Amino acid sequence: MSDRRLVLEIRGLTRRFGGLTAVDRFDVDVREGEIVSLVGPNGAGKTTVFNLISGVLKPTSGSVRMLRTELVGQPAHRITRLGVARTFQNIRVFAQLTVRENILLGTHHWTHSGMLGSATFWPATVRAERAAQAEVDTAIELFRERLKPRLDDPAFALSYANRRRTEIARALAARPKLLLLDEPAAGMNPYERIEIAGLIRAMRDRGLTIFLIEHHMPLVMEISDRVVVMDHGVKIAEGLPKEVHSNPRVVEAYLGRRAASA
Ligand SMILES: Nc1ncnc2c1ncn2[C@@H]1O[C@H](COP(=O)(O)OP(=O)(O)O)[C@@H](O)[C@H]1O
Ligand SMILES: [Mg+2]
Repeated sequence: MSDRRLVLEIRGLTRRFGGLTAVDRFDVDVREGEIVSLVGPNGAGKTTVFNLISGVLKPTSGSVRMLRTELVGQPAHRITRLGVARTFQNIRVFAQLTVRENILLGTHHWTHSGMLGSATFWPATVRAERAAQAEVDTAIELFRERLKPRLDDPAFALSYANRRRTEIARALAARPKLLLLDEPAAGMNPYERIEIAGLIRAMRDRGLTIFLIEHHMPLVMEISDRVVVMDHGVKIAEGLPKEVHSNPRVVEAYLGRRAASA
C-alpha cells in the first residue's frame, strides 16, 4: 500500500473556534485506491476535518495537499475541480429538483469550465450536455434499481436512504479522485448498510480513493484498509481495523464518553 501514489496529505491541520480547538495538529495520508475511515466520539472534530479539506472552512494553520497541490487558501469550487467531492452529514439535496437534476449539478464544474458563452460555442455546449447526461447514467449504475426508477421524481418524494444515495451519485458525477463521505450510512437499516458497504467498495474498485467518516463500527471494520481515530480534535490512534479496535486509548475514548453520559 505504501508504494501507491499519495492522494491526500494532511499536516498539522488546526482549526480553532474561539477557545475551542476543534482540530488540533492533525496529520493523515490517504493513498490511491485506499478506503480510510475517520472515527471518534461525537464532537471529536471529524466533520471539521472534511470542511477544512473541501474548503468550507479555512484552517487556523496547517496544510492539506491533494496530489501534491496545496488546497489551503483555494476556493471550494477550485478544490472540486482538483478532484475532491464530498457528501454531508446532514444531507444536502435540493428538494424541489428531481433526482436527475440533483445529480446533474455534480457535473456542473466540468461541463461549464472554460466555456465563454453558450451561444458562440453551441456545439461544445451540446456535447457537454450529452456528456453530463451520460455521466448521470454512469453515476446511477452503481445504485441499480434504487435510483433508476426514481430519476424523474422530485427529491422531496424520496426515502431517506434514497436521498443519501442521490447525494452520493451527485458527488460521483463530479468525477472526483478523492471522495469524502460523512456518515453515509447514518439512519439506514442493517440491510441498507450492507448495500452501502458494497457501494463504497464498488466505487473504490472503479478507481476512487475514499475517506470515510462512519459511526457504525462493524461497517468500518469490514470495509476499511486503515482507520484513524480522533478524540477532542487530536488523532489518538491509526492502523489496521483490528489494531485500532483493540487499542486501549480508543476503547477509553468511546467507553469513557459513554460512561460519562450514562
Ligand atoms: N462552525 C463552527 N463554529 C463553532 N464551533 C464548531 C463549528 N463547527 C464545529 N464546531 C465544534 O467543533 C467540535 C467538533 O465538531 P465536529 O467536527 O462537527 O465533530 P464530529 O463530526 O466529530 O462529531 C464540536 O465541539 C463542534 O461544536
Ligand atoms: Mg460529524
